[in-house]
Amino acid sequence: MSAKETSRAWWRSAVVYEIAAISFQDSDGDGYGDLPGLLQRIDYLKWLGVSAVWLTPIYKSPDQDFGYDISDFCGIDPRYGTMQDFERVRDALHAAGIKLILDFVPNHTSDQHAWFQESRTSRNNPKADWYVWAEAGPNGGPPNNWLSRFGGSGWEWCEARRQFYYHSFLTSQPDLNWRNEAVREAMANVMRFWLDRGVDGFRVDASAVLIKDELLRDNPRDPEADDNTPPPQKYAPVFTDDRPEAMGCIEFIRSVLDDYDERLLCGEVQGKTDRIGHFYGNDKPRMHLPLNFALLDTEWNAIALQATVDAYYNAIPDGGWPDFVIGGHDKHRVASELGEAQSRILAILLMTLRGTPFLFAGDEFGAEQVKIPPDRIRDPFEKLVKGFGLNRDPERAPLRWDDTGQGGFTTGEPWLPLDEDRSRNIEAQRREKRSLLHLYRELIALRHREPCLSRGEYRPRRAHNDIFWFARTLDKAEILVGLNLCREPRLWEWQGRGVTLISTHLDREQDKVEGPMHLRPNEGVVIKLNR
Ligand code: NOJ
Ligand code: MG
Repeated sequence: MSAKETSRAWWRSAVVYEIAAISFQDSDGDGYGDLPGLLQRIDYLKWLGVSAVWLTPIYKSPDQDFGYDISDFCGIDPRYGTMQDFERVRDALHAAGIKLILDFVPNHTSDQHAWFQESRTSRNNPKADWYVWAEAGPNGGPPNNWLSRFGGSGWEWCEARRQFYYHSFLTSQPDLNWRNEAVREAMANVMRFWLDRGVDGFRVDASAVLIKDELLRDNPRDPEADDNTPPPQKYAPVFTDDRPEAMGCIEFIRSVLDDYDERLLCGEVQGKTDRIGHFYGNDKPRMHLPLNFALLDTEWNAIALQATVDAYYNAIPDGGWPDFVIGGHDKHRVASELGEAQSRILAILLMTLRGTPFLFAGDEFGAEQVKIPPDRIRDPFEKLVKGFGLNRDPERAPLRWDDTGQGGFTTGEPWLPLDEDRSRNIEAQRREKRSLLHLYRELIALRHREPCLSRGEYRPRRAHNDIFWFARTLDKAEILVGLNLCREPRLWEWQGRGVTLISTHLDREQDKVEGPMHLRPNEGVVIKLNR
């Protein structure tokens, strides 16, 4: 795809909405969200105005890791429905003008996958080299000190082969061997299977760990690790994570995608801002959108935010397009951190920055971390690495559509408890014209309406007085965004005249304004300057 074609690509002006089908809408009362349930809610997505849905894995899976342990990449898990249900969802989304992105998990399979079942039987079967197998270390133990993200050694003994296999994540998630041509081709065929079925792109899982060091060198201890560091992170993953060789795999994945028109490749990458540029690629393209979680990692004040946003933009290579993510199935709910008032500031920020916004279902109405009683914990991360606040169930809990016991999500027992605060639900906020949900909806519509917001340049301004502000410009249009990050009124010093397009409080739209102006506590305003 030429640079010019890319600059018009749909995903640049899209708003992407992540859905974990398991927690979105149940249709058959088994307590697990499913595809027919999602189908019933497409009107809501249309009403909200999102342009694309990214679905977390719906493939066949023993479900040890939220569906990221896949036993058949080309089959729908019966819990979610059938291939016909999938096609219905795809068609209904497309009819609503919404793109569909699927999760693509190239690094590992479930140990129940037929490939692994075969690979584990002997050292000379046709799939013997499809996974990362290695001889025992000198003392008969694991080949080296590599750890699993989910705790303990990353190596597991297999008696039939008298060898170890490597798993970056759970023991039941063996890593595929991406050095093997046949594996690459098999995974390319998985991509083609879904691309041929009309999906509009993929979110690539764990792309930074696709290749591990060939010499199996030990990872060094991380000198910065302390008592608060979860044990799996006590070693710096120098030889397991973000290897230069992994970039070649991403280029390969991209080349498969590029045989099709207008598809998007986004994905989970090495999260440090200074590494993000590499995932865009140089001569050979890698991802369109390496996912950027910087807004979740920053301190929440005007100076820190400005530094975070600037550092991120500076890390993006020429021609690369930015993105901002404010939630996801691995991240604590941001509304629990920020509270209602500053969540509104975040909404304005997300929808006015230059870069494709990503939000996780529930973020649009301020869903918070849900309390999970110990006997209902499902996340293996929490079960295996206890005491570090790693549980991901609180953000994965089913959506609350209304204030009833099962929240309109299911008629049965939900697979995880719902938010105890029944008043925080979609239906209530749809009725309340100044709710966070309406703010998101208005902002999404505004972003679609104003090319300056979706495509314009970002012009930094100097943060002052607890106000983070910037301008967006396109041709002759200029839009100013001012965000008061504190709970007191603040003077915002800008010069000129304009009209308010939207504000956090949803009560001064179309006001004629003149700078300098006062912002109320926790107020954010978007102004179109007179020209
Ligand atoms: C990344 C996914 O986002 C996470 O949820 C999962 O646990 C790991 N990959 C392992 O598949
Ligand atoms: Mg169900």
